[in-house]
Amino acid sequence: EPKSALDPDEEKKLTGDMRELYDRLLPSPESEARRLQFVKKLDKILHTEWPGNDFTVLIFGSSGNLLCTNDSDVDICIQTPMKSLETMHPLAEALHKHGMEDVHCVPGAKVPIVKMWDPELSLAVDMNVNNTLALENTRMIKTYVQIDERVRPLAMIIKHWTKQRILNDAGIGGTLSSYTWICMILNFLQTRDPPILPALHQMPHKNYIAQDGSESGFADDLEVLSGFGSKNTETIGELLFAFFRRYGYEIDYAEYVVSVRHGRLLSRKEKSWEITSKEGQWRLCVEEPFNTTRNLGNSADSTAFRGIHLEIRNAFQLISEAKLGKCCELYTFPP
Ligand code: GTP
Ligand code: MG
Repeated sequence: EPKSALDPDEEKKLTGDMRELYDRLLPSPESEARRLQFVKKLDKILHTEWPGNDFTVLIFGSSGNLLCTNDSDVDICIQTPMKSLETMHPLAEALHKHGMEDVHCVPGAKVPIVKMWDPELSLAVDMNVNNTLALENTRMIKTYVQIDERVRPLAMIIKHWTKQRILNDAGIGGTLSSYTWICMILNFLQTRDPPILPALHQMPHKNYIAQDGSESGFADDLEVLSGFGSKNTETIGELLFAFFRRYGYEIDYAEYVVSVRHGRLLSRKEKSWEITSKEGQWRLCVEEPFNTTRNLGNSADSTAFRGIHLEIRNAFQLISEAKLGKCCELYTFPP
């Protein structure tokens, strides 16, 4: 039986250590400035290469959702009526010409992107053209983060843990994206008793039809929303402990789907995501909040998910002894 609560002195130590780590993870003003500088620089490159065209350079992902650290990449969406840029190749060429390094297109990605390194600003950049869908989920995450002051430290620390343990590469790594982890954190906070976060899609809101025709609106009035979780008095230490307990021991992965859109667990049956093979029960199901037919957990196959699950249990063990530093230690191959 996993321990059901932290001892008071352990809780105090853990919460204090989390505060300290959080202060170190917060991006420095200098790193924020470099991100904005990149936007300006890119805007200039685009107008130099293709004068007379319209471009809007938008930041999304962690640089726009309050969950970035100094070493997060910058996610950029270029909006333009210049359709020929959507193939990405002319863009990649231009960026290379202007001093970007390691410029390469990722054709396998669901949305074509160009990745690069800016040696002048020391920034890793992911770029897409006219894919505005991710702007909406960035705004959703930012709204959730602003509702309760515990969300940001908790989410930044869990993201840090996933990076140290190499559990956040949905591409080649075959684990889970930062976005999937964030959805798991949000749903965890929606299902505390009393809840710390509401389900924004279920609250009254203005309808908003996304480019793909889906209804993508959600409640976003912070005047109404802030203070939602104030009946819940859990500390960030208690929450970190409960997060690992929930995903390490409590959830029956064979039965349930994590749904931020609904603010609860859905049964696989009601989503028609039933298990079709023996290995299927060892898969994580996380509903994409905007495109609900997509399972964000799909990036990890059953073997990868078993590994992730073991890491979560290991983290639970260390956190239950208030060993935050050990929990977030960089993964190295055993000798
Ligand atoms: P870090 O870069 O790790 O700090 O976090 P991030 O939130 O920026 O994650 P990442 O760079 O991997 O992805 C950037 C953004 O793309 C996310 O914040 C989401 O807005 C979006 N995104 C990533 N993966 C998916 C996905 O599978 N589906 C959808 N709809 N959006 C995604
Ligand atoms: Mg990013």
